[in-house]
Amino acid sequence: MPSQSNPEVSRSGSSSTGGFDTMLGRHVVKIGLVTEDELEQCRSLIDEASNDDTLADLLLEQNFLTQRQLDRIRRDFEASRSGKSIPGYQILKKLGSGAMATVFLAKQKSLQRLVAIKLLPKRFSEDPNYVSRFLSEGQAAAKLNHPNIVQAYDVNNHNGRHYFVMEYVEGNTVYDRIQEVKRLDEQEAIDILIQSSKALQHAHNQGFIHRDIKPKNLMLTEKGQVKVADLGLARGLDDAEAAKKEAGRAYGTPYYISPEQIRGRIDIGPSADIYGLGATAYHMVTGHVPFTGKNPNEVMQRHLRTPLTPPDQANPNLSAGFCQVLEMMMEKDATDRYQSAGDLLEDLELIAQGHPPHFARPKLDLADLAVQIPAPGDDAPLRQKSKPAGAGVSPLAIGSMVLNGLLLIVLLAVILTR
Ligand SMILES: Nc1ncnc2c1ncn2[C@@H]1O[C@H](COP(=O)(O)OP(=O)(O)O)[C@@H](O)[C@H]1O
Ligand SMILES: [Mg+2]
Repeated sequence: MPSQSNPEVSRSGSSSTGGFDTMLGRHVVKIGLVTEDELEQCRSLIDEASNDDTLADLLLEQNFLTQRQLDRIRRDFEASRSGKSIPGYQILKKLGSGAMATVFLAKQKSLQRLVAIKLLPKRFSEDPNYVSRFLSEGQAAAKLNHPNIVQAYDVNNHNGRHYFVMEYVEGNTVYDRIQEVKRLDEQEAIDILIQSSKALQHAHNQGFIHRDIKPKNLMLTEKGQVKVADLGLARGLDDAEAAKKEAGRAYGTPYYISPEQIRGRIDIGPSADIYGLGATAYHMVTGHVPFTGKNPNEVMQRHLRTPLTPPDQANPNLSAGFCQVLEMMMEKDATDRYQSAGDLLEDLELIAQGHPPHFARPKLDLADLAVQIPAPGDDAPLRQKSKPAGAGVSPLAIGSMVLNGLLLIVLLAVILTR
């Protein structure tokens, strides 16, 4: 009887395998793994009253299908049932998830290569603002091509779910690296910063600002190559319309966000990314974020108002040059910051070779000036500010004061004895 031989009504079909057997019979014949006759043979076995095996069990038992083939079919079936199937790709596993979406490792069937797919959750696909931001991420990234930027391959939607296909980066993120070692040494941090600045220089030159530079968006390959990920909040520099729509709303992650983004400024420029990279650098070398707080609002208020604790207070091994560069990256006023990733790169390359930076300058404060009465002919550079508070007056300054005093006494003695 035809209805009895149909796996849809068999004991093991729709009831015990959640619809898997139902699909399996049709699918294996369609893709040519099993013939109609072989399938019919298994179905008649299922129809025997004493047989509790599922169609999958019987196809295996009869050697019509291997365990590997069955596993692959089952994985695809489960992915498609959970809404994670994307035509042309085989989803392999979840790589991680962030505030906006989930990222999967997948195989692109046509090219037989591994890719990463960022999939938008269903609930967001109905929100036009969210979808347009997601699509703009893909379009922005597709314009960029650089060894230090995660390459975008495709952006599309399937069954109303949006996805973004990109280069799969085997490795981890700077965030993972910080978790692993707690504090990166200066040389490793400079190397990451140099590579990231090159990526930013390229993106900025194409008119794009990343707007969400943070440790989790700096991926690291096993060979130590940096790949900047997630141009999620990127937007054309001249896209004033889009900017106005966002005016007053601050996007980004509070621990690394620039003061001008917090203020909802519409003219966000390259220096916003330089601030984000500076906050990331601060986290890398001190082991903690520059500003903390009980809630995102408090963190953001501190970015706006609280002076930065000099990084060498948390890590005394840092060189003066590195601290100067870092402090300039994190200036609260964008005009005091590096004006381009190229300028930053120049300073990073100088300090990598042990030279003083060109753009960043030691900060002076009144306390410094008070003790810096220069001795005659003394044109030595002024002591830089970024020393631990409470380190007191330097021995050099005390020496200078004593010398000045002695000179004054000698001078007075000469005048008086005349
Ligand atoms: N191209 C990629 N290759 C490999 N892993 C990735 C890639 N993009 C993202 N990931 C992983 O997926 C995680 C989630 O990414 P995402 O959704 O962008 O959130 P976030 O950047 O906040 O972590 C990342 O932390 C990273 O571990
Ligand atoms: Mg990310």
